[in-house]
Amino acid sequence: MTMVKTVGVSKAFGELQVLKEVSLEVAPQEVVCIIGPSGAGKSTYLRSLNRLEKIDHGKIYIEDTLLFDCVDGVNRVKMPLHERNTALLEVGMVFQRFNLFPHKTVMENVMLAPVHVRKVPVKEARDKAAALLDRVGLGDKTHGYPAQLSGGQ
Ligand SMILES: Nc1ncnc2c1ncn2[C@@H]1O[C@H](COP(=O)(O)OP(=O)(O)OP(=O)(O)O)[C@@H](O)[C@H]1O
Ligand SMILES: [Mg+2]
Repeated sequence: MTMVKTVGVSKAFGELQVLKEVSLEVAPQEVVCIIGPSGAGKSTYLRSLNRLEKIDHGKIYIEDTLLFDCVDGVNRVKMPLHERNTALLEVGMVFQRFNLFPHKTVMENVMLAPVHVRKVPVKEARDKAAALLDRVGLGDKTHGYPAQLSGGQ
């Protein structure tokens, strides 16, 4: 099984061809780093995986399910929208700029997506958030606000 697989993914912004037939397979548990100069297209590629960008050409599989098979920007895979969205919910992404909500605590920021997008019960989401924040050494910052954190934190 592959977690993520792309075949010949291409994407241009106007005249600028950013992705040129990018093919990649990522296995479960595998860690892959994409390295390249600023502007090379790393973020564009990652954003394409969960449809934050529309690709022009190529195929994208998530957990062996073909979600996109694009030709000239048109996706030839016919599947119900909710089915595709459910598959895309499994693709997480941490943005380059974190875009934390400044008026919410660290804990509340971490809980937002599970509670609102995944409908996880609040208590469960809070317990999970606390455990995860503990794990990354932010256990004492859970009730602080983003402005009170360092860049790395
Ligand atoms: N929405 C957009 N419209 C037009 N051009 C864009 C758009 N998004 C990105 N680009 C251009 O596409 C190219 C790739 O951008 P991308 O953000 O993928 O680079 P990157 O490899 O992630 O760079 P960095 O290391 O700086 O994060 C850049 O030249 C950028 O200017
Ligand atoms: Mg980037």
